[in-house]
Amino acid sequence: MGRAIDLIEDWGYLEVDEGGRLTDMSPDFCENFSINKKDCIGGSIHDIIEGMYGRKRKKVFFGAIAGINCIIRVTKKGYRDVYRVIVRDGDIEHHEMVSFMHSIDIAKMNKKRPHQNKYSFDEIIGNSPAMQEAKELATRIATSNSTVLLTGKSGTGKELFAQAIHGMSTRKNNPFVAVNCAAIPGELFESELFGYEPGAFSGAKKEGKPGKIELAMNGTLFLDEISELPYEAQGKLLRVLQEKEVERVGGTASKHVDIRIIAATNRDLGKLVEEGKFRQDLFYRLYVFDLTIPSLRERKEDILLLAYYFIDYFNGRFDLEVKYIDSGLQDWLLNYEWPGNIRELKAFIERGMNIVEGDTLSMRDIYFAPPQVSAKPTERKLKALQSLEDEVKHAEINAIQRALEESDGDRSIAAQKLKIHIASLYRKIAKYNLK
Ligand SMILES: Nc1ncnc2c1ncn2[C@@H]1O[C@H](COP(=O)(O)OP(=O)(O)O)[C@@H](O)[C@H]1O
Ligand SMILES: [Mg+2]
Repeated sequence: MGRAIDLIEDWGYLEVDEGGRLTDMSPDFCENFSINKKDCIGGSIHDIIEGMYGRKRKKVFFGAIAGINCIIRVTKKGYRDVYRVIVRDGDIEHHEMVSFMHSIDIAKMNKKRPHQNKYSFDEIIGNSPAMQEAKELATRIATSNSTVLLTGKSGTGKELFAQAIHGMSTRKNNPFVAVNCAAIPGELFESELFGYEPGAFSGAKKEGKPGKIELAMNGTLFLDEISELPYEAQGKLLRVLQEKEVERVGGTASKHVDIRIIAATNRDLGKLVEEGKFRQDLFYRLYVFDLTIPSLRERKEDILLLAYYFIDYFNGRFDLEVKYIDSGLQDWLLNYEWPGNIRELKAFIERGMNIVEGDTLSMRDIYFAPPQVSAKPTERKLKALQSLEDEVKHAEINAIQRALEESDGDRSIAAQKLKIHIASLYRKIAKYNLK
């Protein structure tokens, strides 16, 4: 029997420049295939990997390295190609290899891999000093078991960092459970986090339900938008963290809790403490390691690197072969302020990639994108009047979309604009299935 597909290991990687010349090889690659790095650097990739001539645009292909059959996956790193060996012959049966390749082809490599190592620091793009420092600190923090507080504006990559920290920790084979504190209404906080026993309250599931804390057992609990946790819930969370025990709602037995907490916020928690909006004791509990993720405008060096990274990402998804960004668009990208940070940059590139023809992305591709605001007034007049309920629903959807656009996707700002509670915004977004 072969091994389960999701146990696939990384056998190391090599990097080549645009001309297919080897620029780097990982130590484990050299070791796994008994290759001497010094002899190979500067040579052709074809000398290392046999049988890749027909590869063309494939991102995953069969090849032989030092006489061993392998499945190799190609990713981009700036202008370079990175060839990663994901399966070595003998690890799994041939038919499993074939079906694995097939499934990857279908998914176009874009589905996140199940389980751990969903993200590693390699996949956090950025070489600016600010980003290198953040990654270095995160790497050091990762192996400890301490609580981490990630601070940064919306879209800077806090969740990505949280996953990478988990992926590098000793807990990586246990669950990573994310909870968006802004999305849980105060009254549901306990049942969501602690779970409940059968018949705990009316409307509860008959079988009861485990809470997020239980689901994250031995792993990491990611508490996103921690500042939005209602004051009372903050106290309850603190108690669990201190006593390391959790009891389901309506239950009597308590369970020992072994979880690592990573919390994230786009607000100044210290200031909220001063204002009496966030509990000081919980703040200190979370503030063991704090890591600030820089905004994109503080690391303009990363903008083009990220833009090319997302171009490659959408090349894969849309089956395109865009290779360049024209100079006009480059200037624009470098001078824009990016209030929505990397999330906004990604959406921006995606919009262009929907329109682009040929191999160069230009400003025209962005402007030619269909306007995101729906139904112009003139069009609306042409539409037959719907029931009041539907008309109100559409007005609500329009208002939410506009608020989200005007706040660059930052939901807490959007909620403020709409003068509604952020939890209520989340409910509506879920209800209407908005992005
Ligand atoms: N450094 C990065 N490299 C690659 N992708 C990134 C990076 N930072 C953020 N992203 C992407 O940008 C989007 C927003 O990131 P996310 O972690 O959700 O931000 P936050 O939690 O700070 O709002 C995600 O699609 C994420 O994958
Ligand atoms: Mg987030």
